[in-house]
Amino acid sequence: LKPAMEVARTKADLKAALALRPGRRAVVMTMGALHEGHLTLVRKAKELADVVAVTDFVNPLQFAPNEDFDAYPRDLEADVALLADEGVDVVFAPSSDEMYPRDPLVRIDPGPVATMFEGVTRPTHFAGVLQVVTKLLMLTQPDIAIFGEKDAQQLALIRTLVDDLDIPVEIIGAPIARDDDGVARSSRNAYLSEAERAQARALVAALDAAEAAAASGEARDAAAVADVARASLAEAEGVRVDYVAAVDAGTYLPADAATSEIILALAAFVGPTRLIDNRRMTLG
Ligand code: PAJ
Repeated sequence: LKPAMEVARTKADLKAALALRPGRRAVVMTMGALHEGHLTLVRKAKELADVVAVTDFVNPLQFAPNEDFDAYPRDLEADVALLADEGVDVVFAPSSDEMYPRDPLVRIDPGPVATMFEGVTRPTHFAGVLQVVTKLLMLTQPDIAIFGEKDAQQLALIRTLVDDLDIPVEIIGAPIARDDDGVARSSRNAYLSEAERAQARALVAALDAAEAAAASGEARDAAAVADVARASLAEAEGVRVDYVAAVDAGTYLPADAATSEIILALAAFVGPTRLIDNRRMTLG
């Protein structure tokens, strides 16, 4: 019989909780405000491992001073109830002081991909993500770690981190979980009014249009596929495009005319809320 789920608030409690739970270990890292999207990752972790640890920590290092760190939704009690229902073994929910007793002197440099796409408007974001992901991998020592394809650039950078630093963990991607209207599930969807929520469907509609144009042969290369998505978004009411990019699905560097496996990624503002979505496509 497995011990009941434990909520660890300190690194020491986490270590003790993990020591009591032997077996193949999976970690799912989150910033809380859990929704069905996160829970699909947890379910995948349960399938693939004996012991599932979920981290629940709003990482200050990945928010710029002008971003929504203070406003970011937090509800640990609700998160813990959801995770207990899923049969999670350990929840690690540290304070900022526990994770960062001082401003870290040694920093992860995420390299060139972090300056593109999401990194253009959020130049310090991925350095903060890779800093906390590295720390959480060290603290939880998992066999596997599961991340959503929703945040495709983040997933690509985490794969590069693990490759380049020889971190002994297997990174597994999980498909984008969508609501009934097709909108990708996100904690930030909570910021949308009813009207904005309807407008947010323009993102997935643009991906659908691009995918259809790729499948029919109307769009033959990465640039043409991106143009279809851009044109689709340009017609959408209430949506302001940040970027539409076709990238190499492996490296996340910009695709060229010869790239056949692409990720079409986009970011757009719906009212004041910035949303992202993406889809992997094979061209040619
Ligand atoms: P957060 O935005 O809470 O997301 C946690 C994990 O859930 C990420 O791997 C993300 O890609 C995944 N996820 C979120 N919405 C999803 C959806 N609709 N479908 C599939 N997966 C989804 O991403 C972060 O937190 C942070 O940057 C973190 C990695 C925890 C580091 O702080």
